[in-house]
Amino acid sequence: MNLCVLGAQWGDEGKGKIVDLLTPRFSIVARYQGGHNAGHTVYVRGQKFVLHLVPSGILHPGVTCLIGNGVVVDPHALFAELDELARLGIGVDGRLLVSDKAHLILSYHRELDLLAEARRGERRIGTTSRGIGPAYEDKIARRGIRIGDLADQSADGPLVGAVRDNVEGRNRLIGNADLKWEDVVSDLRGVWTRLKPLVADVSLYLHQAMAEGRAVMFEGAQGTLLDIDHGTYPYVTSSNGTTGGVLTGLGVGPRAVDQVMGVAKAYTTRVGEGPLPTELHGAMGERLRETGQEYGASTGRPRRCGWYDAVAVRYAARVNGLDSLAITKLDVLDGLDELHVCTAYRCGDTVLREMPGDVAQLAACEPVYESIAGWQEPTKGLTSYDALPAAAQRYIRKLEETSGVPASIISTGSDREHTIIR
Ligand code: GDP
Ligand code: IMO
Ligand code: MG
Repeated sequence: MNLCVLGAQWGDEGKGKIVDLLTPRFSIVARYQGGHNAGHTVYVRGQKFVLHLVPSGILHPGVTCLIGNGVVVDPHALFAELDELARLGIGVDGRLLVSDKAHLILSYHRELDLLAEARRGERRIGTTSRGIGPAYEDKIARRGIRIGDLADQSADGPLVGAVRDNVEGRNRLIGNADLKWEDVVSDLRGVWTRLKPLVADVSLYLHQAMAEGRAVMFEGAQGTLLDIDHGTYPYVTSSNGTTGGVLTGLGVGPRAVDQVMGVAKAYTTRVGEGPLPTELHGAMGERLRETGQEYGASTGRPRRCGWYDAVAVRYAARVNGLDSLAITKLDVLDGLDELHVCTAYRCGDTVLREMPGDVAQLAACEPVYESIAGWQEPTKGLTSYDALPAAAQRYIRKLEETSGVPASIISTGSDREHTIIR
């Protein structure tokens, strides 16, 4: 059985924890989109690991991790991550492969990301400034540099020509010529030396592995509402974190995905700009942020917090074809008297039951809430559904009903063991 695990909200749902938890059931974990804008925190018996580009299955020895063609790879970020993993005792030799068709993020992409944000001013997206958008722009504009291109570094070869053109384009946009294409080429020489042993035809590898009956988990980054097509455009990232991204981002057919699991927090968070209908600005937002430690794993930015938005998760169920939910961070709600679940949006005189396509309309919406009693007993670390307080069970049922998807996993803490599997 091959499973896709992806974000059903605005990212940071706890995908890393769920992927790590489920990895023992799989032989391969494959990332299909995004880049090191992702930050996936995994705790194993109290030890913290933060993964950005490397799939969250890497902590399990014997599991092969793949980075697909749909991912944008900053090679220096990847090397830093591998060095950090080695320092923590995790070796990846022979079990991390990167697609030759994945596009590179180079130093000028980061500069262009910052420049674009500065130019947008008030309308900025609040990107992670990792160069993600500009790297995908180059890919779509057919001037990107792919990992496989690094194999031919000859002076009159296509790589050198493309780097020269791209750096000249960057110099025109930035208005100075302080970046020399020769320096970029010389950096890429070192990059290739270290990257070469990891490079593979990932689509072919998956095809052969699946033919041998090896089970694959597809790992999404970001979340459905940050998806370039289905998210709150333009306040989105530049890739498809939704199910469709699996096929294009890894080169597999639709029948490769047997089941899709959406990860959703028991409340809502978002980092960066853009509408968040259930956002709480006062003491309750602060309470969720502090108890949930809602600070970005990649950038350290405080996350905006709000009540659970069932309209958003129901939408995620539709566009991804979700079979189940993993509901995370239930423990963060311990001790609250009353909880609220957003079941519709009020927009002027109309009540919307479905996510609107227009971001300005979404920004003008007010949440329509159903209230439900909270619980005082701690759920932190619980591993059985029956041990949950009755009110917490009612809350889970409310999330299932309003989102239209059964919760097969409930997470009650950051550690692997703090999990209820039904
Ligand atoms: P991802 O990007 O979807 O992988 O999520 P992040 O790792 O960015 O953010 C989720 C944060 O919540 C991480 O710090 C996790 O360690 C933590 N976390 C995950 N599940 C739980 C849970 O059930 N309870 C608590 N308290 N923390 C959790
Ligand atoms: P994980 O995988 C939360 C957000 C940024 C910004 C928007 C565009 O950890 O869930 P980008 O740098 O991608 O161009 O920024 O997307 N964003 C994330 N928010 N979690 C993430 O990843 C994110 N990756 C990007 O904050 O609003
Ligand atoms: Mg994250």
